[in-house]
Amino acid sequence: MLAAVCCAAWGRAYGETKAIRPGEVWLDGRGQQIQAHGGGILKVKDTYYWFGEDRTQTNDPAKRYVACYSSKNLTEWKYRGQVFVADDPEKLGRGFVLERPKVYYNAKTKKFVMYVHLDSPSYRLARVGVAVSDKVDGPYKYVKSFRPLDQESRDIGQFIDDDGSAYLIFESRPTGGFYIAKLSDDFMTVEKEMSFIHAPLEGGAIVHYKGLYYVLGSHLSGWRPNPIVYATATSLEGPWSERKNVAPPEVNTYDSQSSMLVKVAGKKTTTVIYMGDRWLSKTLWDSRYVWMPVQIGDGNFVLPKPEPWTLNVKTGEAKVVGAQ
Ligand code: GAL
Repeated sequence: MLAAVCCAAWGRAYGETKAIRPGEVWLDGRGQQIQAHGGGILKVKDTYYWFGEDRTQTNDPAKRYVACYSSKNLTEWKYRGQVFVADDPEKLGRGFVLERPKVYYNAKTKKFVMYVHLDSPSYRLARVGVAVSDKVDGPYKYVKSFRPLDQESRDIGQFIDDDGSAYLIFESRPTGGFYIAKLSDDFMTVEKEMSFIHAPLEGGAIVHYKGLYYVLGSHLSGWRPNPIVYATATSLEGPWSERKNVAPPEVNTYDSQSSMLVKVAGKKTTTVIYMGDRWLSKTLWDSRYVWMPVQIGDGNFVLPKPEPWTLNVKTGEAKVVGAQ
């Protein structure tokens, strides 16, 4: 009995079962809790980069931080540093908001372009902030802030289509809706409205899977989770289908809110990963990540109950391994 316990633990420690454990503390290569909340993933060659809000308790409270981690298997993450440190660039005052960072790579300008939700402490500024870097892991330099399509913008989401075209999703409270908009050629501004979904949704995420676009959004309930819905369309310009729940409504998306959908196209199959945050509003630094492979196809999108799972990025296969 003892031996079995010992060997299971041994196997895990030495990486035989490198599982993703939704809702559990996720440690980086240094053994520290990953700080990449409201995050996004950018793939460069065969490496994945995870950017997110770094809410480390010892951070300078007058600044806001974006951390970056890298991985080849989406499971084990190497800390690359606090790649963007914002020293209140718009003079918004103590408690200013920088959330949901997303990084794009522009092949023409060879720049990495970071979008963030930038806001005043009371969330009235409602703009995006843009920072750029020549290297994926920074340092990112603040450039400007603006309101995309001249609309208020709070939660942002990122989508890069299979042809490399880049989109920003943003929630716009006064219009009661949710925009999907195309970035300009250099990615430095938001150029064209693709869709306006007239529904108060945030936490936007999109995936293009087998000829259909699936868009996800949560309702507006702050840090508290709610039942996320999705719609589908054959074009980003719509028309979008009616919205359905991704999970039974009473589980509130298994206590999580969407931040991105990641498509892993391997040699054997393609897996779509739901990337969500389980916010702990009083201890945001301890907020957890809920990542799960979803059941997707033919217009259906189901987020299964979170359980430990493994991923093979080469084959694209995901396997639920359960608690071990
Ligand atoms: C959520 C949003 C988070 C954060 C929070 C603040 O609705 O998704 O990113 O802004 O509200 O209350």
